[in-house]
Amino acid sequence: MKEFNVCIVGGGSTYTLGFLKSFVRLREEFPLKKLVLFDIDPERQEPIGKYGEILFSERFPELEFSYTTDINEAYTGMDFVFMQMRAGGLDMRAKDEHIPLSMGMIGQETCGAGGMAYGMRSCVDMIKAVHDIRRLAPAAWILNYSNPAAIVAEALRREFPGDKRLLNICDQPENVVRSCSRLLGCDWEDLDPVYFGLNHYGWFTNMYDMKTGKDLMPEIRRRIKENGFLPQDAEQRDQSWLDTYGMVQTIMNDFPDFLPNTYDQYYLYPEYKASHLNPDYTRADEVKDGREKRVFTECREVIAAGKLGDRFDAISDAHAEMMIKVAESIAFNKNDRHIMIVENNGAIANMQDDAMVEVACELGANGPRPLGVGNIPQFHLGLLVNQVSVEKLLVDAFFEHSYQKALEAFTLSRLVGDAKKARKVLDALIEANQGMWPELTDPKGRARTERVRIGG
Ligand code: G6P
Ligand code: MN
Repeated sequence: MKEFNVCIVGGGSTYTLGFLKSFVRLREEFPLKKLVLFDIDPERQEPIGKYGEILFSERFPELEFSYTTDINEAYTGMDFVFMQMRAGGLDMRAKDEHIPLSMGMIGQETCGAGGMAYGMRSCVDMIKAVHDIRRLAPAAWILNYSNPAAIVAEALRREFPGDKRLLNICDQPENVVRSCSRLLGCDWEDLDPVYFGLNHYGWFTNMYDMKTGKDLMPEIRRRIKENGFLPQDAEQRDQSWLDTYGMVQTIMNDFPDFLPNTYDQYYLYPEYKASHLNPDYTRADEVKDGREKRVFTECREVIAAGKLGDRFDAISDAHAEMMIKVAESIAFNKNDRHIMIVENNGAIANMQDDAMVEVACELGANGPRPLGVGNIPQFHLGLLVNQVSVEKLLVDAFFEHSYQKALEAFTLSRLVGDAKKARKVLDALIEANQGMWPELTDPKGRARTERVRIGG
């Protein structure tokens, strides 16, 4: 059987341990020959790399495993590159969340003003990385789940037109499906969802029982109304995630037709959410105090002990499992269904063709084949056309170095919603992102940020 070479970009991420363990668990389904971790930050990556050496020497000694900060070693000869970079790191995530919140708007990793700030940074780093990969591994499948995936996907669509092996995907739709399986007491792989939207902004219209074809959505609706909604892995989640899943009940009370993606809460209740988030202790702080500490403590302890032992079984990781199954579906032309971000081209019939939309797809050796959903209702269409315009204007601003386009994007966002507020938060974010955004020039030609070289 063929064995694959995989590189993980963002080897120092808190998600990497989950990948390392999942590659061992799924080694029969997705056989690995070589795994390389790549990160620009050697200090974050090293403990995770050392942990990997111990893990694989115990559980998968045949695997060629290494970690590096060198792109040649990282990308050359790769079949798959998994991209999970966080441009600017958690410190910049904290600013993306804090700055808008301190002005009374949603401050969030991927939604609203903070998401747009992160989008500008990610476009710089992702475009550079994909050029490097294409130089060193022209035929590699690039599976991108770096955020904000909606904005990154739009920028990559423009920079790499026709690149059929450059895919964008997010785990949150599948997390919601898994949560439905907990609610229903069934296996999540027995659920067959119909879904439409943009990344971090979508709805499930139906949830079919894979075996019988019965639509379970009425039952899901009834149970959420009665009992609320929990993530599948609720026991491992921080309070803010439980609050987020809890909002699904609120959303379905107001808009009962479809089951929402959890991120819809920010777009539907921006005032309520902004007033309930603490600008001085945001999700980034919670991650630093929680997951980040746990991951790096685990690494230190394993390195000190020189072995993993029964720690191996402690955590199963849905995110990593999903991404590996995506690779498996491509590698073995399985045509499994995954919800992915693709160019619309009629998948949502009443939306523009060149929108990057999120829908269920059959995924095989020739890439994703989207399953069309037909026309969507006016309410959802209105919301999504607004947001797709925001994303496109922001990506225009990125490529054209246009302050004006950025101002339009920020003004149009439902999570900003006012031109004066838009200018104020945009200027503050430009200040905070010096050197990490491309130069934006206002109509008078005044440079707003340091120039950052993009592409090439
Ligand atoms: C989900 C989303 C990701 C996002 C993550 C944030 O998995 O799909 O795009 O980055 O949540 O989770 P965190 O625990 O870091 O707040
Ligand atoms: Mn996501």
